[in-house]
Amino acid sequence: MTVTETTVQLTVDGKSVEVPTGASVLDACNAAGVDTPTLCYAENLTPVNACRVCVVEQEGSRTLIPSCSREASDGMTIQTDTERVRHSRKMVLEFLGSGVDLSQADELAPWIDHYGADPDRYGDDRTRVDEPVRIQDDLYIRDYDKCVLCYKCVEACGDDAQHTFAIAVAGRGFGARISTEFDTELPDSACVYCGNCVAVCPTNALQFKTEFDLRQAGEWKPDEQSVTRTVCSYCGVGCNLELHVQDETIVKVTSPNDHSVTSGHLCIKGRFGWTYVHGR
Ligand code: SF4
Ligand code: SF4
Ligand code: FES
Repeated sequence: MTVTETTVQLTVDGKSVEVPTGASVLDACNAAGVDTPTLCYAENLTPVNACRVCVVEQEGSRTLIPSCSREASDGMTIQTDTERVRHSRKMVLEFLGSGVDLSQADELAPWIDHYGADPDRYGDDRTRVDEPVRIQDDLYIRDYDKCVLCYKCVEACGDDAQHTFAIAVAGRGFGARISTEFDTELPDSACVYCGNCVAVCPTNALQFKTEFDLRQAGEWKPDEQSVTRTVCSYCGVGCNLELHVQDETIVKVTSPNDHSVTSGHLCIKGRFGWTYVHGR
C-alpha cells in the first residue's frame, strides 16, 4: 500500500499499520487488531488523559504514553504488551479498585482479570470512598462509591455534548467528587436531565433509576434483555434510540454512538420520556 500525505505509517507490536493523519495511537492499535483497555476515553468525547489505563510504550520515549490521546505519527514504534506496560496497567487498575467499587464496571472486569490486578492486597483499612447513594429524583442516581473521576460525565454535560455545565469536579484528593454547583440537589441545579452523563459513565456511578431499582430487587437481567433501535417520536430531529427491554418492559434508553445525529447523546424526552409506552 502506498503511504499518502493523508496517512501515517507506524508499527504496533511488530505489525505495520497505516492510519489517517490525526488518528491516535489507540486507533493504530485497533487497526493492528490489538485490544487496549480504556476508561476515560470514549469515541464521542474529547480525550482528557485522566486514567492512564491505556498506556503503551513508544520507542525513544522516556515515559509510557497514553494511547487514547497521543497522535500517531510516521515511523512510531509502539509496544503494547511489555512488562512495563503490563505493570503500569495493573497498578492503575489496582489503585482505582482499592478506592472505589468497580463491581459494575463491566468493560474493566476482563482487564482486571487479564493483568491479575488485586485491589484487596492494599488491606481492609485502605481509604475508600464510602458514602450513601444519592437518590434525588426518579430518573437517575449518583453512587460516588463507584466513581473513578474519569471526567466523562463532566465532558458530556459540557462542551462535548450538552453545553449545560451542570456538573464539575469539586474538592481534592479523596474529597474530590463530581458535583453540581454548590452541591445543590440535582432538581435544584442547572441539570436538564438529558442523561448524557449517565450514558457515558463507565462504572455505573451514574445509573438510570430503573436499572438501580431492578438491581436492588435482584431483578436486573442484562442477558435476557433485547435492544431495539428506533427513531424518537417527539420531534423532527430524528434521533435514534436503543430501547433496552426486559420482560416486555423498557428498562432504559440509550443512543448509538455511530449515529450522525446524536453521536450517542439525547435530550430528556428521548432518554426518559418513554413511560407512556406502558400506559403508566
Ligand atoms: S443529565 Fe444532562 S444536564 Fe444533567 S448533569 Fe447529566 S449531562 Fe448534565
Ligand atoms: S460519575 Fe461516572 S462518568 Fe462521571 S467521573 Fe465518575 S465514573 Fe466518570
Ligand atoms: S483511556 Fe487513555 S488516559 Fe484514560
